[in-house]
Amino acid sequence: MKQVIFCNFQNKKRMEKKIKWRCPANIALIKYWGKRPVQLPCNPSLSMTLSHSFTDLELTLKEKKRKGLELVYLFDNKPNKAFSKRILTYLQDNKQAFPFLEDYALQINTTNSFPYAAGIASSASAFGALALALMSVENINQEHFKQKASYYARLGSGSACRSIYGQFALWGQHPKAQNSNNEYAVPLHSVHKSLKTLQDAILIVDDRPKKVSSSKGHALMEGHDYAQSRFKQANKHCGKLFEVLKLGNFEEFTNIVEQEALALHAMMMTSKKYYLLMKPATLKIIQKIMDYRKQTGLKMCFTMDAGPNVHLLYPKEYLTEVKGFIDRELSGSLKSTIFDEAGKGPICTQNE
Ligand code: PMV
Repeated sequence: MKQVIFCNFQNKKRMEKKIKWRCPANIALIKYWGKRPVQLPCNPSLSMTLSHSFTDLELTLKEKKRKGLELVYLFDNKPNKAFSKRILTYLQDNKQAFPFLEDYALQINTTNSFPYAAGIASSASAFGALALALMSVENINQEHFKQKASYYARLGSGSACRSIYGQFALWGQHPKAQNSNNEYAVPLHSVHKSLKTLQDAILIVDDRPKKVSSSKGHALMEGHDYAQSRFKQANKHCGKLFEVLKLGNFEEFTNIVEQEALALHAMMMTSKKYYLLMKPATLKIIQKIMDYRKQTGLKMCFTMDAGPNVHLLYPKEYLTEVKGFIDRELSGSLKSTIFDEAGKGPICTQNE
């Protein structure tokens, strides 16, 4: 298998065309929570793209005589009704942008490198990979390729637009970032070298699908008593995090990232239809992280997605100490741990 960054099979005169993308998941440091039509964020968000947690997607296009959308979707080589429906709706909604969709019989196969519902946003890596594959069919120049892919990934799942870039990405307008945009994410280039290799130990306390989806959570921000303050806070944190990422100040980084994680869950706990996604083990882990940091001065901090699992972030030089800490202090509360890190972003892998 040959690895290339941009694939384009416009010139191939074959009856069947295949394209493959590997797109990583991302973990938000500044959280996107609350949206308005169509999938536009109420506040800017900023994330780190992972490396080992990714979706592999293969798109096969077979020429056919009759026009119309035709899709066979397999997840882990098996049909999956729920995902299939979501992807079909997405293709239906975007067929004007990708007119070729009606000219071919489509087959999409996806596999994840991480367990489904492990607290890693699988829709981000899946829609990132799908948007990139669709974009690869179009003959466009490289400069706009990622921007457009990010735009179309966003329409599948908001946070997916950030997975198009490696390292750190920003989605949503912020006065301190001139190129920022609500419609697609942009890469962040000013990052201190100590944070470019940031590690993420994903501490899985519960791997069952969560009871309240992110879509419902976003919707509950409409009319939420704290919504406006929360959007203001995210903007403030985002501006501060630009500086912190540039300078590599881990103490400040910790303050912002942990406040963001707890603010996200506070929004869930205080919405009109309030709910809890944290489990007793989640709180136990958070407390242990805070205590251990206080005792040892070790650089590490936590964040969370919309789920009960904890992401433990730390500079690469502390890998051995952090692994020891997880083994000794946390393993009793954990189902498993995924050791991930900041990654380089999606790659196109095309069969010869
Ligand atoms: O992209 P969605 O709709 O799955 O929402 C993601 C929301 C969070 O993961 C909680 C935060 C974020 O910014 O990724």
